[in-house]
Order: sequence, then C-alpha cells, then structure tokens
Amino acid sequence: MHSLTGDTMHGSIFVFLKRFVEYKHNYNTWVDILEEVGLRNRVPYQMNEVYPTSELFTIMSAAARVQGVSDPVFQEKFGEFLVPDLLLVFKRFIDPSWRTQEMLLHIGSHMHAGIKRENEATNPPPLHVSKVGQNMLVIDYHSRRRMAGFAVGIIKGLAQYFDEGEKINVLPATEPNAERVQIRVAFT
Ligand code: HEM
Repeated sequence: MHSLTGDTMHGSIFVFLKRFVEYKHNYNTWVDILEEVGLRNRVPYQMNEVYPTSELFTIMSAAARVQGVSDPVFQEKFGEFLVPDLLLVFKRFIDPSWRTQEMLLHIGSHMHAGIKRENEATNPPPLHVSKVGQNMLVIDYHSRRRMAGFAVGIIKGLAQYFDEGEKINVLPATEPNAERVQIRVAFT
C-alpha cells in the first residue's frame, strides 16, 4: 500500500484524469466514480490547486475497475492520453524545437523543476535521465507514489505526439510497480 498521507499533487493531473474518464466513457461515469469512492461533494478540481494524491489513486483504481484493466495498465493508458494536454498547458517550460529525446533530457531541469518552482506543494518525481551510447536513454524513476507505469505512458504518448512511435521502444527494465524503476528508451 502507499503511505501518501499529506502528499499533494498538481490539479492539472486531476483535471486530465476527469478528461480521460469522460473520453473513455462519459461525464456520468465520472460522477458515478466520485459517488462510489465517497467524493460526490468534492469541489470540482482546478488546474491551479493541489489535491491529496490519495484521491487520485482512489479515483484511478475505481476507473481501472470500470475499464476492466489493472492499475498499472490504467496508469500507462492515462499517461499516454494526457500528453497533448500536458504539452499545451505547460508550454512555457518547453522549447518548441524539442522532440521526444530532447523532451526526456529536459524533464528534470525544465518541466518538473518549473512546476515545483511555481508550486511548492507539488512533488514531481526525480527522473535521472542518462544517455547510454548513441541510441539509448536510461531513465531512473524514484517516487514513493509508485507511478512508473504513468511515466511509461507519458514516454509512449510523447513518441506518438511527435510521430516517432515507429522508431522508439520503451522497455521497463525493472518491476514497474516499485518506488525505484529503471526505464530504457531505445531510439532507432
Ligand atoms: C513533457 C512535459 C511534462 C510536464 C509538463 C510534466 C508535468 C507533470 C506534473 C504537473 C506532474 C504532477 C506533479 C505533482 O503535482 O507532484 C507530473 C507528475 C509526474 N510526471 Fe511529469 N511532466 C512531463 C513529462 C514527464 C515525463 C516525460 C515523464 C516520464 C518520463 C514524467 C513522469 C511523471 C510521473 C511518473 C509523475 C507522477 C508523480 C510521481 O510519480 O511521483 N513526466 N508531471
């Protein structure tokens, strides 16, 4: 189980989760899920707030059950889905010339660092990205939130977004549901 008491996450992720559920199903499903998990009276999630990470997990698990997939598969699909929204909402941290590889090389210094700077209550995961040889990036994910499946989804989503899906292979090198996970990204 997670011990995430007191941990908060950026509102954008909650807003995108609602969009994902609405895209896969519809608004009623979102309302049903909130009702089922005891969040019926929740004030609507806003982009510029933070919310308990435990709420995100509760809603993701309920939505995974509705879709009939496991939690890690759900997180991956959600990560893949939110990339276009993520790039739009946080374009201030992104150089328009970057493609998948440059994006990955700048997450820590630009996107995640920018998010932390703007809002202390967020906790974007440290992702140590190293270049191994010409064609491989190794990403070390470390977070007690255990959302490496989400990371894998975001990487796949980036590759699709930049039309590089054919030449990029994402290979979780270690067990994906852990606090520390190594992800290899091969470029051909
Ligand atoms: C492309 C631009 C990106 C933006 C703008 C972005 C933004 C964010 C934001 C706002 C959060 C919520 C953080 C919080 O409230 O604590 C987050 C979390 C996260 N991001 Fe990113 N991110 C980007 C790229 C990536 C990439 C490429 C990966 C994977 C390699 C990644 C992996 C994650 C993960 C796994 C989380 C969930 C929190 C956790 O595991 O601790 N992000 N990101």
